[in-house]
Amino acid sequence: VRQGKLRGMSSSSVAFDRAASYYDETRGLPDDAMAELSALLVEQLAGRRPVLEIGVGTGRIALPLARAGVPMVGVDLARPMLDVLRRKDDAKLVRVVHADATQLPFADSSFDAAVASHVFHLIPDSGRALDELTRVLRAQSRLLVAAGGDHDDDWRTEVREFFRGACRAERPAAHDERRITALTELEQRASSAVDLPEVEVNRDATITDMIDRLEAGQWSWSWDLPDDRLHAAAEETRVWARDTYGDLDVARATTSRIGWRCYDLP
Ligand SMILES: C[S@@+](CC[C@H](N)C(=O)[O-])C[C@H]1O[C@@H](n2cnc3c(N)ncnc32)[C@H](O)[C@@H]1O
Repeated sequence: VRQGKLRGMSSSSVAFDRAASYYDETRGLPDDAMAELSALLVEQLAGRRPVLEIGVGTGRIALPLARAGVPMVGVDLARPMLDVLRRKDDAKLVRVVHADATQLPFADSSFDAAVASHVFHLIPDSGRALDELTRVLRAQSRLLVAAGGDHDDDWRTEVREFFRGACRAERPAAHDERRITALTELEQRASSAVDLPEVEVNRDATITDMIDRLEAGQWSWSWDLPDDRLHAAAEETRVWARDTYGDLDVARATTSRIGWRCYDLP
């Protein structure tokens, strides 16, 4: 990982240092869905080089793109996330830079396209991140944005919302607001914006496993909550879930739809 590009600034963004060890296990997509998503994004990036990903993390998105021939540069605030990316990237296809998306260490007009996946909700000053992105992008460039996370259409949404309510946390709303602010602003700056076809992800999961992960604080909206609040909320959720769904250890089918949006910039 390249050193020291943060120029002494302390970012108010949410860095994922603590998530590096479990991120891929909890956020990874099944191989077939990842292949489908990657092919869609590669098609949108054809002929564009180089491509920047802000908040590249462990390279969940950047690495498959790079392996498909897209010349990727990834920046992230969290060194441990970049270290995971480096370890996976045997062929050193992705150039990684430890940097803040609101203060990019690149010259104006350095990139033909950019990717932003699950990152705008973590950056309070999204206007500045967009200013920086447009500065380092060339004219008529393209930005691909994951549209607000996986869209659960089943029991998972209910369990997560119950748990959030039981935590009495402010942060989920703040995260949603930041994401919506960034996307609204992007919509205004773009010359066109198009939804890419959704990728459907089907897999089995148990309610026990989901509540355990919520209790372990694996999602960034819960990182400022004390452990005892997470434990109490998990207990409350288990009791409610048993009443509502029955056996929490049964494997249940889930479907998520992964949506991305393609913005062309003037
Ligand atoms: C939820 S992860 C997403 C990682 C990857 N894009 C993906 O889709 O798997 C968000 C990443 O953004 C990083 N991040 C948050 N704020 C940032 C900022 N201002 N500049 C650069 N990276 C940032 C975090 O450290 C974390 O690694």
